[in-house]
Amino acid sequence: MARILITSALPYINGIKHLGNLVGSLLPSDAYARYMRLRGHDVMHICATDEHGTPAELAAAKAGKPVEQFCADMFETQKALGEGFRLSFDHFGRSSGPRNHALTQHFAGKLFEAGLIEEVMEKQVYSNTDGRYLPDRYIEGTCPNCGSENARGDQCENCTKQLDPTDLINPRSAISGSTDLEVRETKHLYLRQSKLRDRLRDWINTKTDWPILTTSIAKKWLDDGDGLQDRGITRDLDWGIPVKKGDADWPGMEGKVFYVWFDAPIEYIAATAEWADAHGKPDADWRRWWREDEGADDVKYVQFMAKDNVPFHTLSFPVTIMGSGEPWKLVDHLKAFNWLTYEGGKFSTSSQRGIFMDQALDLLPSDYWRWWLLSNAPESSDSDFTWSAFQSGCNKDLNDVLGNFVSRVTKFCRSKFGEVVPSGGTPGEEEAALIAELDTRLAAYGAAMEAIEVRKAAAELRGIWVAGNEYLQRAAPWAAFKTDPDQAAMVIRTALNLMALYATVSKPFIPDASAAISESLDWDGEWPASAAEALNALPEGHKFTVPENLFRKIDDNEREAWDAKFSGTSAT
Ligand code: MF3
Ligand code: ZN
Repeated sequence: MARILITSALPYINGIKHLGNLVGSLLPSDAYARYMRLRGHDVMHICATDEHGTPAELAAAKAGKPVEQFCADMFETQKALGEGFRLSFDHFGRSSGPRNHALTQHFAGKLFEAGLIEEVMEKQVYSNTDGRYLPDRYIEGTCPNCGSENARGDQCENCTKQLDPTDLINPRSAISGSTDLEVRETKHLYLRQSKLRDRLRDWINTKTDWPILTTSIAKKWLDDGDGLQDRGITRDLDWGIPVKKGDADWPGMEGKVFYVWFDAPIEYIAATAEWADAHGKPDADWRRWWREDEGADDVKYVQFMAKDNVPFHTLSFPVTIMGSGEPWKLVDHLKAFNWLTYEGGKFSTSSQRGIFMDQALDLLPSDYWRWWLLSNAPESSDSDFTWSAFQSGCNKDLNDVLGNFVSRVTKFCRSKFGEVVPSGGTPGEEEAALIAELDTRLAAYGAAMEAIEVRKAAAELRGIWVAGNEYLQRAAPWAAFKTDPDQAAMVIRTALNLMALYATVSKPFIPDASAAISESLDWDGEWPASAAEALNALPEGHKFTVPENLFRKIDDNEREAWDAKFSGTSAT
């Protein structure tokens, strides 16, 4: 039994996430966690909402709520939606919680002691009317280059020139429009990432089994002259984690908070502490997942994320960990995903283009989405969600193959033998061939899951379902019953055992359907040692009940209506 720590990139708090966010980390990490539990491993599966930063403040302002309230409400919404999609986190935490405050301040203190944090005096624009410093994007004015009146403090969108806020002519606050602005000197903290460049490179070079997508992004940033620039880790915002050195105040840093990308990954650790708190467990219980000197030396740590998150997880967060000088766990395996597009274009939150998690669950139960998204995960390249692909994938795999198998087998059995596993007959060549195919496919499915090749794993699982259908077709118990009822009984017994196998091995992808099959069979199994053993799991005479249809077909009218409804207010 291995110990596996699994984290999924923390969904940002500013709104309900779309299907692209779902398949970019949350769903695959869940399938992996479920698979590893099924194989008997000790799993800690962690996620949380990422709550700080300007976009959270903006979303709260738009919703007309104080930011604390907005985040508390949106956390509940996101947590409930995660449960709706059956995301089996051991804990779903909040980066704004007290554990993350303390740990973030702890890491900052350690990094300072190690000489990796520098205090820098900066010139920043302060708005007297708004009573706050304005980040670049909050300052507007006339472009010194082209004369456009709507240039932002970081860039003029008209002529694309990169700007500093102080370059703008007639600068004004984007919040209030006020021109009562002044430049003030203010202290900020910089993380001296460049000092760890060689250590980082050595570490990345040991990751020979990581996908190219991951290591190439990391190496590009390492070798790029700009890549590992020292990075500002503090901001002049109200909402965030106050800047402290451990428990101690940080002179000159009053009223400032840590940058959201500094505290967010630390929440992976903090959320595990929150898990312990929520279950009344001592600190040792979460530290054994994270501290190599307190039991985590045999933990395998796997991270899931979309590709834009890779630099933060291969460089910035490792700098925090290594730089602390303490034996915290570094990531062992990092799985990154490409983008999911929607009907050939981008998902867009602002123009409401695409499908969001709440809307998806209003249309169909989570298994349909889980299955289609995971079996089409954007692994080696981007993948495209289209309603017609979704319709045909669900109809074929779930309804025609798996659903029909379960329905035919259980109903035929009920009508000929009653709702019990029938006895009689002896397995022959067909069954031997079935067992051989299942053994091959089970091994391939397992290998793909171990390697986190999600699409391949889904294809093998589909193959396991198809093998059952083809067996049933060949063995034709409805024909055999007329001449040789014992033979028909043996085929149906085999098929009911196949159902039991499906209930087990389908859990990572479609947990609700798996549970429904288990319930109808009044049986719950572990990963089988072999196909032969799996096909003998249910004893003769074991009672079952015919389940409700597991899946239904998506018809053309529905597809067209959904396509029209979610096309968004503007084209790409
Ligand atoms: N919220 C970030 C995003 O949506 C991901 C943060 S992952 C973390 O891209 F580890 F840094 F928290
Ligand atoms: Zn310009």
